[in-house]
Amino acid sequence: MAEFELRFSAAEIAARVDALARDIARKLPRDSLVVAVLKGSLVFTADLIRALSHHGVDWPMDFISLSSYGEGTQSSGQVRLTRDISEELAGRPVLLIDDILESGRTLAFAKKIFTERGASQVWLCTLLDKPTKRVVDLQADFVGFQVPDEFVVGYGLDHAHMHRGLPFIAVKK
Ligand code: IMP
Ligand code: MG
Repeated sequence: MAEFELRFSAAEIAARVDALARDIARKLPRDSLVVAVLKGSLVFTADLIRALSHHGVDWPMDFISLSSYGEGTQSSGQVRLTRDISEELAGRPVLLIDDILESGRTLAFAKKIFTERGASQVWLCTLLDKPTKRVVDLQADFVGFQVPDEFVVGYGLDHAHMHRGLPFIAVKK
């Protein structure tokens, strides 16, 4: 696809997702709850839960929607909860999954509300980590790939709601 400059191929992503699942299956308690941040982590989560199943893990899951972006490529800095989970969190370990950790505001916000509701521990898993753009002090526990400061699309990541279905991760030319 001439429009895109490849960063991570479908095969590279699949290998990394399998390695992440192996690591997560080894480290997290058996009674964990998976929470995916919509919409960006949809594709990653779908592959990750199947890889987890391959590594012997079968956890319940739920979804949250958090919005911090408008139509552009710059974060507005404000995080809003636009769809909440329905699962009870008290005493439960949570694996929180997002597509990319950039400023850290989105996952810091989600981790805070889950902790306030009594989750026993919140692990952060992100497919991509853009550490140069961090504004809050936050690290993910499980990271697929580190990326430089450039806007990527595909494998769930969008630009103005487009390109989520690309099977690879790329920069749009
Ligand atoms: P943070 O709150 O700044 O960490 O932003 C995380 C959110 O911003 C992610 O869940 C994405 O939806 C979005 N985002 C950040 N960088 C990119 C990118 O390079 N491509 C697509 N979305 C991005
Ligand atoms: Mg997102």
